[in-house]
Amino acid sequence: MKLIITGGAGFIGSAVIRYLIKATQTTVLCLDKLTYAGNLDSLKPVSNNPRYHFAQVDICDGPALEQVVAEFRPDAIMHLAAESHVDRSIDGPAEFINTNIVGTYTLLETVRSYWQSLDSEQKTAFRFHHVSTDEVYGSLGKTGFFLESTPYQPNSPYSASKAASDHLVRAWHHTYKLPVVTTNCSNNYGPYQFPEKLIPLIILNALEGKPLPVYGQGENVRDWLYVDDHARALCLVLELGKLGETYNIGGHNEKTNLEVVQTLCSILDERLPTSKHKPHHQLISFVTDRPGHDLRYAIDASKIEKTLGWKPQETFETGLHKTVQWYLDNQNWWQRVRDGSYQGERLGLLCATRSVQNAIKRM
Ligand SMILES: NC(=O)c1ccc[n+]([C@@H]2O[C@H](COP(=O)([O-])OP(=O)(O)OC[C@H]3O[C@@H](n4cnc5c(N)ncnc54)[C@H](O)[C@@H]3O)[C@@H](O)[C@H]2O)c1
Repeated sequence: MKLIITGGAGFIGSAVIRYLIKATQTTVLCLDKLTYAGNLDSLKPVSNNPRYHFAQVDICDGPALEQVVAEFRPDAIMHLAAESHVDRSIDGPAEFINTNIVGTYTLLETVRSYWQSLDSEQKTAFRFHHVSTDEVYGSLGKTGFFLESTPYQPNSPYSASKAASDHLVRAWHHTYKLPVVTTNCSNNYGPYQFPEKLIPLIILNALEGKPLPVYGQGENVRDWLYVDDHARALCLVLELGKLGETYNIGGHNEKTNLEVVQTLCSILDERLPTSKHKPHHQLISFVTDRPGHDLRYAIDASKIEKTLGWKPQETFETGLHKTVQWYLDNQNWWQRVRDGSYQGERLGLLCATRSVQNAIKRM
């Protein structure tokens, strides 16, 4: 099979590509704009494989997309390219509207025209897999789970832009019969994640003895999934998912942010017995909450488990140990990321507050 993966140089896309190149015979084209979040270092383990290809393309650029699709002639497209960080969407929503909505629309139109040009056998076999988030469902109270039938209620500029893209994909299926499947997944963690996200940010700040920022009282609950479990789920849905359907993917690992940070501190205390920052929990610092912070996300993943036989292989404990060890063993990867523009500073306070903070920092 020939597969285009948009956003393949990002955290989840690169995990999917490493999995596909190592475990299957799929030929993959990674299509990525290489924003701050795209990193070809994450694809080094497979970049010499003849079944791996790369094209630097912005999904908002219709003519460039058309050219790549016409030349590569994919059997399927897995669409992960997105602006993905909620805090950044609060500071600057424009890129989220562009890439997540206009980009998805541009990609859908390119794919529709290519798909219509295929012969009937290729047309039937073709798949467009849209990768989305559980954040489109909004926030849960203390009980209950997100089902595939849960009404959309996105609360952040990020989740609203992803919800819009989900609706476009759904409409292209119903109106034009484009063969699509959609997945909505909970929070991922694991190797190669950009250190603006909670788990790598905490690990790297702890290694450097910097404060470990916990938003509000740390009571917000997320359902954590190890990225390689997500990658396997995505490949399964692409292969066996029913057209026009959505599948929720989650890890049955509901944890408060404070629990996550405390567990990371204990793992680091154990792995680094001589660290001068030990006990690491003394670095925990409660900071102003994210504006509009959703209280709780929790996925009911029984549909993908029952119909496609998927189950996560990692528990939160095994996945977190592997993740910490990976960041300890791969300083080169994150050092190069940290040498760039992002140094672990706080994002996602409303702009006025940030400029005041920056002014204070400069004083
Ligand atoms: N990380 C999570 O916990 C999570 C959970 C559920 C769903 N998702 C979804 O999975 C997808 C991937 O998430 P991630 O965490 O790997 O994100 P990421 O930010 O690590 O990677 C996004 C990738 O998309 C690329 N990209 C951004 N704008 C582009 C554009 N205009 N054209 C082409 N490429 C562009 C970036 O260069 C980067 O390589 C996203 O669609 C996200 O909404 C993420």
